[in-house]
Amino acid sequence: MRYSSRFPYTTVLLLGTALIAGIVLYTGSASTSYSAEAAPSAAIPADQAEGEAIYRQHCLSCHAADGMGSGNYPAVASDHVKKKLGTYDKAYEFISRNMPDNAPGTLTDEEYKAVTRYILSLNGVPTGFNDIEKHWAQKEIAALFDKQYIDGYVNKETGTMQFKPDQFITRAEFVRYLVKAKELFLSNNTESEFTDIGKNKEERIYIITAVEYGLVNGYPDQTFRPNNTITRAEIAAILSRSEMLKASAQPTFHDIASDYWAGDAIRAVQEAGLFNGYEDGTFRPDQRMTRAEAISVIYRLVSQPQA
Ligand code: HEC
Repeated sequence: MRYSSRFPYTTVLLLGTALIAGIVLYTGSASTSYSAEAAPSAAIPADQAEGEAIYRQHCLSCHAADGMGSGNYPAVASDHVKKKLGTYDKAYEFISRNMPDNAPGTLTDEEYKAVTRYILSLNGVPTGFNDIEKHWAQKEIAALFDKQYIDGYVNKETGTMQFKPDQFITRAEFVRYLVKAKELFLSNNTESEFTDIGKNKEERIYIITAVEYGLVNGYPDQTFRPNNTITRAEIAAILSRSEMLKASAQPTFHDIASDYWAGDAIRAVQEAGLFNGYEDGTFRPDQRMTRAEAISVIYRLVSQPQA
């Protein structure tokens, strides 16, 4: 299915989503860090069963059945674990590298993932989005989440996590997901000329990295405007830079003038198969992108065979 054909109804959804977004707990730039206050999940969902089985077989000999620790071995469900390993990537990294018995590679990647999800669920940390089921971009969102390229919004009250697929993506989010998806080396720099990129280290580092790689610019007034939404033309421009794409012809969209600032970039991303126009022959450069739309573009980017 082509992505352009889905736009009309996604656009309709946007309004509604924008309205309800206001009442849902919004963790903003801190979205990747889970709080120690997250409520424990009441029950272990069925898909955790595999992780639990692996835990029983490979981890129980040292850690206790209820995860609370025994003898010389620490608990795997505790405030300490939530603080130290309370995100999927941190927990996966620790467990697959140090456990069991400092013997990395004892389990398969899939087994480590399953047991990581189980440990996180024991700690009340959400391990998946609860709002992407049957969404048109479910596959793309789930795939990039599995690779730890993207993150969502944690509701600390319910211990659940949403992706908010139909919410407009922000500049900070897009840049973070792109830098992660391209697996760029993160900058060592913590200083930045931008006056508005906040104290959140996680958010800052991705913006600084993207600017250093020349993927994206700030504004002349030394702002980055991380929470601003981002248009199709702007994303096309970023991707044409990040992928070093060159257009071979002029854009043919009705709504792109021959001297349009991002004309070459738009043509280039279209030729590269990353973006489509609309069936009516327009590109709609000033239309903002939703998180799901942006993720499906990044998904195409990372699923393409390496040139
Ligand atoms: C041979 C004994 C042993 C086995 C098997 C083992 N662990 Fe551990 N685990 C330890 C020890 C010892 C520590 C503490 C040392 C450390 O942090 O590296 C620990 C620490 C941890 C922690 C961090 C706890 C904290 O408070 O920091 C987690 C989470 C964990 N293990 C998960 C697992 C999982 C999941 C498995 C199965 C895949 C597993 N362990 C298998 C011995 C074991």
